[in-house]
Amino acid sequence: MDNRHVYKSRDFALRWHKHQLEKEDILRTKIMNLLLFRHAGKLENKIVLEAGCGNGFFLKYLLKLNPKQLFAFDISPHFIDICRKQFPLVNYKTADIMSKIPYDDEFFDVVFSYNVLSELPEINTAVMEMQRVTKKQGILHVIIVHPLYNLFVNGKQVEKETVFKKLGRYTKQEPVFVDTLPGYDKFLIYRRPIADYVNEFIKSNLTIEKMIEVPVSSKVVQINKKYKQREGIPVFAYFKLRR
Ligand SMILES: C[S@@+](CC[C@H](N)C(=O)[O-])C[C@H]1O[C@@H](n2cnc3c(N)ncnc32)[C@H](O)[C@@H]1O
Repeated sequence: MDNRHVYKSRDFALRWHKHQLEKEDILRTKIMNLLLFRHAGKLENKIVLEAGCGNGFFLKYLLKLNPKQLFAFDISPHFIDICRKQFPLVNYKTADIMSKIPYDDEFFDVVFSYNVLSELPEINTAVMEMQRVTKKQGILHVIIVHPLYNLFVNGKQVEKETVFKKLGRYTKQEPVFVDTLPGYDKFLIYRRPIADYVNEFIKSNLTIEKMIEVPVSSKVVQINKKYKQREGIPVFAYFKLRR
Protein backbone atom coordinates (compact mmCIF):
# COMPACT_ATOMS: atom_id res chain seq x y z
CA MET A 1 0.00 0.00 0.00
CA ASP A 2 1.26 3.50 -0.77
CA ASN A 3 0.07 7.00 -1.42
CA ARG A 4 -0.11 6.92 -5.17
CA HIS A 5 -3.91 6.87 -5.21
CA VAL A 6 -4.00 9.91 -2.87
CA TYR A 7 -1.49 11.79 -4.98
CA LYS A 8 -3.54 11.14 -8.10
CA SER A 9 -6.68 12.64 -6.55
CA ARG A 10 -7.76 16.05 -7.79
CA ASP A 11 -9.18 17.01 -4.41
CA PHE A 12 -5.85 16.31 -2.74
CA ALA A 13 -3.86 18.31 -5.31
CA LEU A 14 -6.13 21.36 -5.09
CA ARG A 15 -6.23 21.34 -1.30
CA TRP A 16 -2.48 20.80 -0.99
CA HIS A 17 -1.84 23.73 -3.31
CA LYS A 18 -4.25 25.99 -1.39
CA HIS A 19 -2.64 24.93 1.91
CA GLN A 20 0.85 25.71 0.56
CA LEU A 21 -0.25 29.14 -0.63
CA GLU A 22 -1.71 29.94 2.78
CA LYS A 23 1.30 29.10 4.95
CA GLU A 24 4.96 29.88 4.52
CA ASP A 25 7.00 26.70 4.61
CA ILE A 26 9.79 28.22 6.68
CA LEU A 27 11.68 24.96 7.17
CA ARG A 28 12.25 24.98 3.43
CA THR A 29 12.44 28.68 2.60
CA LYS A 30 14.68 29.59 5.54
CA ILE A 31 16.89 26.50 5.71
CA MET A 32 16.75 23.90 2.99
CA ASN A 33 16.37 26.04 -0.13
CA LEU A 34 19.27 28.29 0.89
CA LEU A 35 21.55 25.33 1.48
CA LEU A 36 20.48 23.75 -1.76
CA PHE A 37 21.30 26.87 -3.76
CA ARG A 38 24.76 27.10 -2.22
CA HIS A 39 25.47 23.61 -3.53
CA ALA A 40 23.59 23.76 -6.83
CA GLY A 41 25.75 26.53 -8.30
CA LYS A 42 24.95 28.03 -11.68
CA LEU A 43 22.46 26.30 -13.94
CA GLU A 44 22.77 28.58 -16.93
CA ASN A 45 24.03 26.06 -19.48
CA LYS A 46 22.28 23.09 -17.93
CA ILE A 47 19.38 20.90 -18.88
CA VAL A 48 17.62 20.37 -15.56
CA LEU A 49 14.92 18.00 -14.26
CA GLU A 50 12.82 18.18 -11.13
CA ALA A 51 11.57 14.66 -10.41
CA GLY A 52 8.29 14.85 -8.45
CA CYS A 53 7.61 18.58 -8.78
CA GLY A 54 4.30 18.66 -6.87
CA ASN A 55 2.51 22.02 -7.13
CA GLY A 56 5.67 23.77 -8.34
CA PHE A 57 6.91 25.13 -5.00
CA PHE A 58 10.53 24.48 -5.99
CA LEU A 59 10.15 25.16 -9.72
CA LYS A 60 9.67 28.81 -8.81
CA TYR A 61 13.15 28.84 -7.25
CA LEU A 62 14.76 26.75 -9.99
CA LEU A 63 13.53 29.16 -12.66
CA LYS A 64 15.37 31.99 -10.90
CA LEU A 65 18.62 30.11 -11.59
CA ASN A 66 17.97 30.42 -15.35
CA PRO A 67 18.52 26.84 -16.51
CA LYS A 68 18.96 26.39 -20.25
CA GLN A 69 15.94 24.06 -20.22
CA LEU A 70 13.78 22.97 -17.29
CA PHE A 71 11.81 19.72 -17.26
CA ALA A 72 9.54 18.43 -14.50
CA PHE A 73 7.28 15.48 -13.85
CA ASP A 74 4.94 14.24 -11.16
CA ILE A 75 2.61 11.29 -10.68
CA SER A 76 -0.32 13.69 -10.27
CA PRO A 77 -1.78 15.12 -13.49
CA HIS A 78 -3.56 17.69 -11.29
CA PHE A 79 -0.29 18.97 -9.84
CA ILE A 80 1.05 19.19 -13.38
CA ASP A 81 -1.98 21.31 -14.40
CA ILE A 82 -1.35 23.62 -11.43
CA CYS A 83 2.34 23.93 -12.38
CA ARG A 84 1.60 24.55 -16.05
CA LYS A 85 -0.69 27.46 -15.21
CA GLN A 86 1.99 29.09 -13.06
CA PHE A 87 5.14 28.28 -15.05
CA PRO A 88 4.19 27.61 -18.69
CA LEU A 89 7.77 27.54 -19.99
CA VAL A 90 8.67 24.35 -18.11
CA ASN A 91 8.46 21.09 -20.08
CA TYR A 92 6.07 18.78 -18.16
CA LYS A 93 5.13 15.13 -18.07
CA THR A 94 2.97 12.99 -15.82
CA ALA A 95 4.97 9.93 -14.77
CA ASP A 96 5.52 7.45 -11.95
CA ILE A 97 9.08 7.43 -10.65
CA MET A 98 8.59 3.86 -9.45
CA SER A 99 8.62 2.70 -13.07
CA LYS A 100 10.48 3.75 -16.22
CA ILE A 101 10.33 7.54 -16.59
CA PRO A 102 9.77 9.01 -20.07
CA TYR A 103 13.20 10.52 -20.79
CA ASP A 104 16.19 9.31 -22.79
CA ASP A 105 19.32 7.94 -21.17
CA GLU A 106 21.88 10.56 -20.13
CA PHE A 107 19.67 13.50 -21.09
CA PHE A 108 20.01 15.80 -18.05
CA ASP A 109 22.98 17.69 -16.65
CA VAL A 110 21.32 18.12 -13.26
CA VAL A 111 18.45 16.29 -11.55
CA PHE A 112 16.69 17.50 -8.39
CA SER A 113 14.52 15.29 -6.22
CA TYR A 114 13.04 17.24 -3.31
CA ASN A 115 11.16 15.30 -0.62
CA VAL A 116 10.10 12.50 -2.93
CA LEU A 117 12.19 9.42 -2.03
CA SER A 118 11.08 9.66 1.61
CA GLU A 119 7.48 9.21 0.38
CA LEU A 120 8.05 5.99 -1.57
CA PRO A 121 7.64 2.42 -0.29
CA GLU A 122 10.68 1.33 -2.33
CA ILE A 123 13.38 3.55 -3.77
CA ASN A 124 15.45 1.21 -5.92
CA THR A 125 13.64 1.95 -9.21
CA ALA A 126 13.49 5.69 -8.52
CA VAL A 127 17.22 5.96 -7.85
CA MET A 128 18.10 3.81 -10.88
CA GLU A 129 15.84 5.84 -13.14
CA MET A 130 17.20 9.19 -11.98
CA GLN A 131 20.72 7.83 -12.52
CA ARG A 132 19.83 6.55 -15.99
CA VAL A 133 18.55 9.91 -17.26
CA THR A 134 21.53 11.87 -15.88
CA LYS A 135 24.57 12.49 -18.10
CA LYS A 136 27.86 10.89 -17.14
CA GLN A 137 29.51 13.29 -14.68
CA GLY A 138 26.11 14.98 -14.20
CA ILE A 139 24.82 15.87 -10.74
CA LEU A 140 21.82 14.73 -8.70
CA HIS A 141 20.64 16.79 -5.74
CA VAL A 142 18.51 14.59 -3.50
CA ILE A 143 16.69 15.92 -0.46
CA ILE A 144 14.71 13.70 1.87
CA VAL A 145 12.81 14.29 5.07
CA HIS A 146 15.29 13.06 7.68
CA PRO A 147 14.31 9.71 9.24
CA LEU A 148 14.85 11.10 12.75
CA TYR A 149 12.37 13.89 12.03
CA ASN A 150 9.88 11.31 10.87
CA LEU A 151 10.58 9.16 13.93
CA PHE A 152 10.26 11.93 16.52
CA VAL A 153 8.06 14.58 14.96
CA ASN A 154 5.90 12.91 12.34
CA GLY A 155 5.57 9.47 13.94
CA LYS A 156 2.71 10.60 16.12
CA GLN A 157 1.04 7.20 16.25
CA VAL A 158 3.58 5.98 18.79
CA GLU A 159 3.67 9.15 20.87
CA LYS A 160 3.90 7.32 24.19
CA GLU A 161 7.10 5.42 23.42
CA THR A 162 10.24 6.24 25.31
CA VAL A 163 13.14 7.82 23.46
CA PHE A 164 15.09 4.55 23.67
CA LYS A 165 12.20 2.55 22.23
CA LYS A 166 11.88 5.04 19.39
CA LEU A 167 15.58 5.01 18.65
CA GLY A 168 15.49 1.23 18.73
CA ARG A 169 13.27 1.40 15.65
CA TYR A 170 15.63 3.72 13.77
CA THR A 171 17.24 1.08 11.56
CA LYS A 172 13.91 -0.38 10.40
CA GLN A 173 11.99 0.77 7.38
CA GLU A 174 8.48 1.69 8.51
CA PRO A 175 5.38 3.37 7.20
CA VAL A 176 4.59 6.62 9.01
CA PHE A 177 1.25 8.38 9.09
CA VAL A 178 1.54 12.15 8.80
CA ASP A 179 -1.12 14.82 9.10
CA THR A 180 -0.04 16.63 5.98
CA LEU A 181 -3.47 18.08 5.27
CA PRO A 182 -6.68 18.32 7.23
CA GLY A 183 -8.90 15.46 6.01
CA TYR A 184 -5.90 13.34 4.99
CA ASP A 185 -4.79 12.16 8.40
CA LYS A 186 -4.00 8.66 7.14
CA PHE A 187 -1.43 9.97 4.70
CA LEU A 188 1.36 7.43 4.53
CA ILE A 189 5.05 8.07 4.00
CA TYR A 190 8.03 5.79 4.53
CA ARG A 191 10.79 6.19 7.01
CA ARG A 192 14.01 4.33 6.39
CA PRO A 193 17.47 4.82 7.87
CA ILE A 194 20.04 6.93 6.05
CA ALA A 195 22.01 3.73 5.35
CA ASP A 196 19.21 2.49 3.06
CA TYR A 197 19.53 5.62 0.88
CA VAL A 198 23.32 5.41 0.83
CA ASN A 199 23.21 1.76 -0.21
CA GLU A 200 20.81 2.49 -3.07
CA PHE A 201 23.11 5.27 -4.33
CA ILE A 202 26.09 2.91 -4.18
CA LYS A 203 24.11 0.20 -6.00
CA SER A 204 23.37 2.68 -8.80
CA ASN A 205 27.07 3.63 -9.08
CA LEU A 206 26.49 7.16 -7.86
CA THR A 207 29.32 8.89 -6.03
CA ILE A 208 28.31 10.77 -2.89
CA GLU A 209 30.16 14.09 -3.10
CA LYS A 210 28.47 15.65 -0.12
CA MET A 211 25.92 14.72 2.49
CA ILE A 212 24.45 17.17 4.99
CA GLU A 213 22.01 16.46 7.81
CA VAL A 214 20.12 19.73 8.11
CA PRO A 215 18.78 20.65 11.56
CA VAL A 216 15.89 22.92 12.52
CA SER A 217 17.86 26.13 13.08
CA SER A 218 17.61 28.81 15.75
CA LYS A 219 16.75 31.24 12.95
CA VAL A 220 13.57 29.28 12.25
CA VAL A 221 12.75 29.19 15.96
CA GLN A 222 13.12 32.99 16.11
CA ILE A 223 10.60 33.33 13.29
CA ASN A 224 8.14 30.82 14.69
CA LYS A 225 8.32 29.66 18.31
CA LYS A 226 6.31 26.52 17.53
CA TYR A 227 9.60 24.99 16.31
CA LYS A 228 11.38 25.54 19.64
CA GLN A 229 10.99 21.92 20.77
CA ARG A 230 12.47 20.74 17.49
CA GLU A 231 15.52 22.97 17.38
CA GLY A 232 18.56 20.88 16.48
CA ILE A 233 16.61 17.86 15.24
CA PRO A 234 17.67 17.06 11.67
CA VAL A 235 14.70 17.88 9.46
CA PHE A 236 16.20 17.12 6.04
CA ALA A 237 19.11 15.16 4.64
CA TYR A 238 20.80 16.45 1.50
CA PHE A 239 22.92 14.37 -0.87
CA LYS A 240 24.99 15.73 -3.73
CA LEU A 241 25.60 12.79 -6.04
CA ARG A 242 27.71 12.49 -9.17
CA ARG A 243 26.93 9.99 -11.87
C1 LIG B 1 6.29 16.17 -0.58
S1 LIG B 1 5.84 16.39 -2.24
C2 LIG B 1 7.21 17.35 -2.86
C3 LIG B 1 6.87 18.12 -4.09
C4 LIG B 1 7.96 19.07 -4.59
N1 LIG B 1 9.18 18.37 -4.93
C5 LIG B 1 8.26 20.16 -3.60
O1 LIG B 1 9.43 20.26 -3.18
O2 LIG B 1 7.36 20.91 -3.25
C6 LIG B 1 6.09 14.81 -2.96
C7 LIG B 1 5.74 14.75 -4.41
O3 LIG B 1 6.09 13.48 -4.94
C8 LIG B 1 5.09 13.08 -5.86
N2 LIG B 1 5.14 11.62 -5.96
C9 LIG B 1 4.80 10.73 -5.00
N3 LIG B 1 4.93 9.48 -5.47
C10 LIG B 1 5.37 9.60 -6.75
C11 LIG B 1 5.68 8.66 -7.76
N4 LIG B 1 5.58 7.37 -7.54
N5 LIG B 1 6.10 9.13 -8.96
C12 LIG B 1 6.21 10.47 -9.19
N6 LIG B 1 5.92 11.42 -8.26
C13 LIG B 1 5.50 10.97 -7.05
C14 LIG B 1 3.80 13.58 -5.26
O4 LIG B 1 2.75 13.68 -6.19
C15 LIG B 1 4.25 14.92 -4.70
O5 LIG B 1 4.07 15.93 -5.64
